[in-house]
Amino acid sequence: MAKASATVTVNPQHDGNTLRDGLHRDRVTDPCSIVFFGASGDLFKRMLLPAVYALRLNGTLSNDFALVGYSRSNYTDESFREYCKQQLDEFAPADQKPKGAIWDDFARRISYMSADFDDVKCYEALKKRLDENDAQLGTAHNRLFYLSTPPSVFPEIIKHIKAAGIDPRTHVKGWTRIVVEKPFGTDLLSARALQQTVERAFDERSVYRIDHYLGKEPVQDIMALRFANTIFEPVWNRNYVQSVQITAAEQLGVELRGGYYDNAGALRDMIQNHVMNLLALVAMEPPASSDADAIRNEKFKVLSAIAPPTHEDVASMSARGQYGPGSIDGKPAIGYRAEQDVDPASNTETFAAVRLHVDSWRWAGVPFYLRSGKRLARKVSEIAVTFKPIPHRLYGESTDTIEPNVLVIKIQPEEGVTMRFEAKVPGPKSHIRSVFMDFNYGSGFGVQSPPAYERLIGDAIRGDQTLFTRWDAVERAWEIVTPILDVWEHTKDFTFPNYPAGGQGPESAAKLFPEWRAL
Ligand code: BG6
Repeated sequence: MAKASATVTVNPQHDGNTLRDGLHRDRVTDPCSIVFFGASGDLFKRMLLPAVYALRLNGTLSNDFALVGYSRSNYTDESFREYCKQQLDEFAPADQKPKGAIWDDFARRISYMSADFDDVKCYEALKKRLDENDAQLGTAHNRLFYLSTPPSVFPEIIKHIKAAGIDPRTHVKGWTRIVVEKPFGTDLLSARALQQTVERAFDERSVYRIDHYLGKEPVQDIMALRFANTIFEPVWNRNYVQSVQITAAEQLGVELRGGYYDNAGALRDMIQNHVMNLLALVAMEPPASSDADAIRNEKFKVLSAIAPPTHEDVASMSARGQYGPGSIDGKPAIGYRAEQDVDPASNTETFAAVRLHVDSWRWAGVPFYLRSGKRLARKVSEIAVTFKPIPHRLYGESTDTIEPNVLVIKIQPEEGVTMRFEAKVPGPKSHIRSVFMDFNYGSGFGVQSPPAYERLIGDAIRGDQTLFTRWDAVERAWEIVTPILDVWEHTKDFTFPNYPAGGQGPESAAKLFPEWRAL
């Protein structure tokens, strides 16, 4: 354990760019120890560590913090600090590389425990380490446990945290919180079993189920767009909306995660969590306040208004696909079944599309189309709200098509909002064609959005659960997808592979909904 020395304070100043007016630095977090279980893994080095360091650099993280890496790999405190430095050198953005007095102060607050996940003695040693942090680094008895291990070890970690006496119910000084990475269970039953384990150790207000999509700035803006403007809300309902389509498309394949993905598939990996959360935000009623539970109550109500399909319905309300060989950006790409750690006869879907209905006063009769897939033509996540056609045609030459208005919330890679509407083409004739109003975060605010993990880790330390998924919503999302999973798991799709890498997805998706926006 490094000895305490003078702390380094970081305090960025406003740089005079008026586009940045209204941008605030988050309030400084409480002092705390953050324990990363699975600290030698990929997520830690690529996302979590750079996020914590960024919070330190931008002054959001309290000066009195400690980072404890907990994993099976063999590091000492010293070699783990060196490892962290190398990972930041590789994965942190160019202006957030580890250097100078800030890095030296950060480094001395890092320690490592080379430990087993199923050995209670290791957790007792962890408790001792956390007590030392309180005494030597001023972490004020506050603890954030971050589970970024494979999900199979979540239950034993949670049980042992409780057994070692570091759970929130016995720990009375300060707070104890737990962040659980997705997937929260692999189906309805396993999610319920995991929840029972969680409940035995933690109250819901201490549990932060992470869905990194909720930390993306444009996703947070969905509520601002709807509830901080007057023009959208009056038309945000069945009277004006024809359909809603939500897309989370990737160009990447399964990379090195074939082992995990072949047991998961697109419906579990993306639709049950990220895409359902988007649906809930776009369809929810205005919450009574901006309080975390007021918002999460409304999100849950949306999911409760979606009837899970019957097994008989599944064929007509869903489409699945698996990529075969093809090409991405002009370069040949192998098919899914040839990927590392994937069964060469795999029946796992790498593309899923579903049609859902929110049976509420606001949304009765409006279809919500959701799709997600890997190895598609381009990476794009967006929500497109298509409005009803005009009731009576007055303008345009007879050959012109008058397109419906579409509002697109662009989540990535572009971040912003686009509205498509019809305008007269300049000239003597009254031709009509579509034009766009475009808002872009980068040019609108003059900053890049912070990475999702930075926001979410900061919120967990501050105790703000708004952007974390509550258990009732997780359970409901599993209830909705379970009948589809059941049918897909028990019926082989003999058309697989049914779309080429780099394509638009399977034809069955186009049959489900011919009006998907092109990828
Ligand atoms: C993860 C999935 O939750 O989200 C991955 O497990 C997927 O399979 C990733 O690639 C996509 O995240 P993003 O932020 O790149 O859209």
